[in-house]
Amino acid sequence: MEPTSLEGLVVDNQQDGLFRVNRQAFVSPEVLALEQQRIFAHCWIYAGHETEVPNPGDFCSRRVAGRPVILARGDDGQVRVLLNTCTHRGALVCREQAGNARSFQCPYHAWTFSTRGELIGLPGEDAYSPAFNRNELALGTPPRVESYRGFVFINLDPKAEDLVTYLAGAKEYLDLVCDQSEVGVEIVQGSQLYSMRANWKLLVENSIDGYHALPTHQRYMSFLGEIGGMDLSAVTRLRGFAKSLGNGHSVIEYEPPWGRPVARWAPYFGKEKKASLAAIQQRLEQRFGKEWAYRVAQTSRNLQIFPNLIINDIMAVTVRTFFPVSCDYMEISAWALAPKEETAEDRALRLDNFLTFLGPGGFATPDDVEMLESCQRGFANREVMWSDISRGMNRAEPVTTDELQIRTFWRRWHELITGTPSAKVTGQRAA
Ligand code: FES
Ligand SMILES: [Fe+2]
Repeated sequence: MEPTSLEGLVVDNQQDGLFRVNRQAFVSPEVLALEQQRIFAHCWIYAGHETEVPNPGDFCSRRVAGRPVILARGDDGQVRVLLNTCTHRGALVCREQAGNARSFQCPYHAWTFSTRGELIGLPGEDAYSPAFNRNELALGTPPRVESYRGFVFINLDPKAEDLVTYLAGAKEYLDLVCDQSEVGVEIVQGSQLYSMRANWKLLVENSIDGYHALPTHQRYMSFLGEIGGMDLSAVTRLRGFAKSLGNGHSVIEYEPPWGRPVARWAPYFGKEKKASLAAIQQRLEQRFGKEWAYRVAQTSRNLQIFPNLIINDIMAVTVRTFFPVSCDYMEISAWALAPKEETAEDRALRLDNFLTFLGPGGFATPDDVEMLESCQRGFANREVMWSDISRGMNRAEPVTTDELQIRTFWRRWHELITGTPSAKVTGQRAA
């Protein structure tokens, strides 16, 4: 693909309030190859949460940006990301999903590595010359690994800016999510793994798209209406806003029509829950003041951390990441995040919310999968070249059903893909 045509993948016409993405961005293998080089190899990519490996020796293996890695807590208590490839001849040293180990032994020739990654044993070491140096043969690590409030990210670019700088305004929103707990949040054991025949960027768009909620998820909305007297019209007049957070991150924040197990009561939680949720709210207010406590517990947020981490803090908190396998197929992993101190009853309520709406077999995700796969199938009509993302461009203060948060993603995407400072714009900077 010519550089000139790359430039034209996003049209950001702020004068007329038009924003379009060329559908080549969703179907071209060349674009995917560039994304691997220019986005996934340079941005901070979410690898996992420290609470997934609470004890020394705990590990989980996963693929991050196409690389098999091990998230491991060493016997020294430190969390590391190890590259899952034997320094002897390449085999995966860890083939289990998760567990607790004293060491990782490669199944091929039985080299053994500690939970810190050091090479600690190999059969027949006397066959090697004096120049053979065990220390040089420790398991590799990504060039950069940093964490913020338990969220562990890797960066394949040794020269990348530090994680907190990269997070920019998204840091405040991670704080809002984490402050739901008085002692810390944790990933609930277990994960949801699923896949979709769609381009990965369609899921970025969908995860922060307030416009689709009512038509796509009508069934869930009427279910809430039936069980809890929820006013459906509330969904169409949510009080909230969309915001760009810098570096391509964005958020929508709003007062939700649903309950939040942290402290926002809804009729379908039952009357008996009212008092205990009010008590949590009161404690949050004492700790953080009224305003921050209100945002923590009473508002919902769909947070997009560029390029592929979504934290939807809605009726439960889902941490979702996904990677393209090909330009029309992605693999998704999702986890529930929850306050550690939550009572068993509240946890059950949260997980019920999590499964009912967010789970791959719940009310919402199958709807979304169906819609995104349908978009991808629709792209076969190459004669229709553009997708429109201009909703709310004429509004000074974009709302949650506008598309500022999606444009934020695309502007950064375009900048990185073309290697130019910003997407081509005409006229004044609009939302
Ligand atoms: S490849 Fe791992 S011990 Fe040989
Ligand atoms: Fe959805």
